[in-house]
Amino acid sequence: MESNNLPIHIAIIMDGNGRWAQARGLPRIYGHQEGKKNVKRIVRHAANLGIKYLSLFAFSTENWKRPKEEVDGLMEILKVGLQEERPEFIREGIRVVFFGDRTKLPKDVIEEMELTESSTASNSRLHLAFAINYSGRDDILRAIKRISQKVADGKINIDDINNDLISKELDTKDFPDPDLIIRTSGELRISNFYLWQSAYSEFYFTPVLWPDFDEKALESAIEAYQSRKRRFGGI
Ligand code: IPE
Ligand code: IPE
Ligand code: MG
Repeated sequence: MESNNLPIHIAIIMDGNGRWAQARGLPRIYGHQEGKKNVKRIVRHAANLGIKYLSLFAFSTENWKRPKEEVDGLMEILKVGLQEERPEFIREGIRVVFFGDRTKLPKDVIEEMELTESSTASNSRLHLAFAINYSGRDDILRAIKRISQKVADGKINIDDINNDLISKELDTKDFPDPDLIIRTSGELRISNFYLWQSAYSEFYFTPVLWPDFDEKALESAIEAYQSRKRRFGGI
């Protein structure tokens, strides 16, 4: 892997925890525990490689459809994970933010999120986003409502609405659009992740399940990205 021409922003759809557990005859929640361990491993490696922005899709607006037991388990893993990792985020210079509609999350999870954001706000070695209760359509929908309100209040005109203004109303406003979007577990779809932001992203799909997606696997994805010719509509 070359250390120049790195993607500035990598986004990962962390999929396959359930299948990882089922393949071992274990309940799905064990897969999520392993998935959490892998978040630690990949965040650390991305920071060491010099990646500046990393987005991790952790819970979609559609994941509420899962059995309550699994949803509760995921929320608990999230809460405990943030408690455990906060000191390392601070020590390692990692700024952590959260994308998604947090109003619908359990109060104790929101508290951990807010504490993690405020205690890492001045960091800049790696900008790390967890997308939780996030979906691309929901992000766009909430942005449209805020923009419409500004028009209704006379703060902006309809002609002021452009690509830039829309990007600045999304949860992801402080992140550049992803250069590379990785999806693990062999599914070939975006599942309502970054819709607006993925206009010119390079996609990388791997059959590897998220708990098995290790440092080498991340480097392979980056190598694939480095071999692509990005044209952005040009020649
Ligand atoms: C993790 O993988 C993604 C989350 C929604 C937390 P899954 O739980 O979707 O695992 P599979 O796809 O069922 O194997
Ligand atoms: C996408 O995975 C969401 C996350 C990784 C958080 P899903 O497992 O929910 O996606 P589908 O249902 O296979 O499309
Ligand atoms: Mg899945």
